[in-house]
Amino acid sequence: MTERQDSFRNQGLQVGARVEDLLSRLTTDEKLKLCEGKNFALTRPIERLGIPSLGLTDGPHGVGPHGTSWKRNTFFSCGILMGATWNPAILEEFGAAVARECRACGRHVQLGPGMNIMRSPLCGRNFEYLSEDPYLAKKLAPATIRGLQSQRIAACAKHYACNNQETWRMSVSAEVGERALREIYLPAFEASVRDGDVWTFMCCYNKVNGVYGAENRDLITKRLRDEWGFKGFEMSDWGATVPASSTEACVNAGLSLDMHVTVQKPFIKMSFRKLRKAFAAGKFTEEVLNENVRRLLRVMFLVGLFDDPATLPKGERNTPEHQALARKLASDGMVLLKNDKSILPLDAGKVKRIAVLGPNARKRTALRHALDVLNLMGFGGSSQVMPPHEVTPAEGIGERCAGRIEIVESADVADVAIVFAGLNHAPGGDSEGFDRKRLELPGKQVDLINDTAAKNPNTVVVLVSGSPVSMEGWVDKVPAVLEAWYGGMEAGRAIADILFGDVNPSGKLPVTFPKQLSDSPAHASGSKRMWPGENGKVHYDEGIFVGYRHFDKHGIEPLFPFGHGLSYTTFEYGDVKASKPRIAAGESLTVSVDVKNVGTRAGAEVVQLYVQDVEASVERPPKELKGFCKVFLEPGEQRTVTMDVGTEDLSFYDEREGRWVAEPGKFVLHVGSSSRDIRGSAEIQLA
Ligand code: BGC
Repeated sequence: MTERQDSFRNQGLQVGARVEDLLSRLTTDEKLKLCEGKNFALTRPIERLGIPSLGLTDGPHGVGPHGTSWKRNTFFSCGILMGATWNPAILEEFGAAVARECRACGRHVQLGPGMNIMRSPLCGRNFEYLSEDPYLAKKLAPATIRGLQSQRIAACAKHYACNNQETWRMSVSAEVGERALREIYLPAFEASVRDGDVWTFMCCYNKVNGVYGAENRDLITKRLRDEWGFKGFEMSDWGATVPASSTEACVNAGLSLDMHVTVQKPFIKMSFRKLRKAFAAGKFTEEVLNENVRRLLRVMFLVGLFDDPATLPKGERNTPEHQALARKLASDGMVLLKNDKSILPLDAGKVKRIAVLGPNARKRTALRHALDVLNLMGFGGSSQVMPPHEVTPAEGIGERCAGRIEIVESADVADVAIVFAGLNHAPGGDSEGFDRKRLELPGKQVDLINDTAAKNPNTVVVLVSGSPVSMEGWVDKVPAVLEAWYGGMEAGRAIADILFGDVNPSGKLPVTFPKQLSDSPAHASGSKRMWPGENGKVHYDEGIFVGYRHFDKHGIEPLFPFGHGLSYTTFEYGDVKASKPRIAAGESLTVSVDVKNVGTRAGAEVVQLYVQDVEASVERPPKELKGFCKVFLEPGEQRTVTMDVGTEDLSFYDEREGRWVAEPGKFVLHVGSSSRDIRGSAEIQLA
């Protein structure tokens, strides 16, 4: 072997040099082959040069069995629960754990995190995403990415962009203005590049302003590559090139890899055969092809495909540590919505009998065996994991009560009744490929809750769901409501941890819970034009007024506001102080507030900072999240929480000028425990 032949294998060389060396050895046909997925989870190998397949596995809740020869892996919490943690540190831990499982399965790319904005409470995939708020999403997504990539496993920012509904996802065009794109729908994707240095992107199925994600040059080349400086590669969502206009449109837009399931293979646009034909006809240049492939090769080097395995981070699966993390993560994101008369936590020393009721008490949410994959959508879709075990809520409670507290079937003989209500992963619930039709709880759950509450005043409702539900007609009748989301394989134990106070709840809503659907921005007009669309288009007429921005603007009282979540202890806030009264463009200041745990239990508070632009030349939201900090405090402990505010946090995207603008004048910095529980404010001037 000559020295030249060796150089792409030489671990001592810079990645860039290794990439160029390998690229220079590839024939045009070999490059074209690399752009077409071999099957569901692998890229095509190039045997002549010893290029193995890059292996992909699904996320974002753990390593999926499809694509890993039906391996059982740790099933972590769903995305919305991760959003509710407001805790970048735990998401970084989660990312690293998933990466180790991915490596142990012989795979290199984890298809997560999902970071689409929750535009409507009805989106079937809300449970996979992080928030309705771009700031929260843009702080949390890069944390997961950093964790994954710390183990040299590539993360994947998906689904780029505006895949905010499942209805007609393969054809609908999201008609969205530039300001809403910049301020609401793109920040998490942009931060994945700028703060997370993410290695891969996945396009959306839908069109954005008339152009499919797979062939959207504006999104892939102009913004992602040129503006944000993305160095990785973009792949299609599975089968997303099928409806695209042409092979060359996808290639020229900057799509590097066309992934699909086998039945889609004849129809994808970047099959080797179609690529070869388009290339021969001069529809795209070798230079464009080189750039697309160069990016793919770069990721192959980053994940260590050509490195000595002994030098790579070690993989491991289903360790006690990963399962313990699954439990910790689950309880970190559960949100105590209501707790009248401090009925929770339950006192295990006093309670004698607990009734465990409701359709979600004994329901498993994960895949149990490989055959379940045939009905993947019945389990929520591609994000499903097949764990070695799953603790249901009833099992978790049963375990916690064993030998001490009797579990009974009937509310009237119990000291406490717990109704496990909510949604499930069947189509029409929290499921890929379908949106929900209504906000209300399905079936006879409202009757069950009310019957139970009539029999037992100590009725606690635990919601297992991945998106907001209506509580009309029942929430006033029960003293406590816990939003447990889908907590993964350890969900039952995590729920018991919270209900019995072994863990003090600290999750906060990453999404507004509306009283009724028509209170939500996408549904306020009641017109199909805005949801789910008509004539192939869904119009984002609400602009930037998504989530709490809309509720605040119109003075609508939500059921539970964005950022809300109770604790078993009480946090007292001191005065809010800004480090300077005025800043100039390009400068920043620090907001500080003393937070004290004045209760008797240790606990964590998420301190939230919202910015209000008092006077502006365009309409701005009454407040926007621009900082947060989750702080853990022992009883009696006080800490000073600080959050930085820069001029970028004061700015809006000015469509007239085509740039971000921070206008001089007065701004109010609100600090609080939720978006509707502001504890103090400070005024500053932007010079
Ligand atoms: C989903 C993606 C997923 C891919 C592979 C698609 O249907 O939209 O999120 O990663 O399938 O399973």
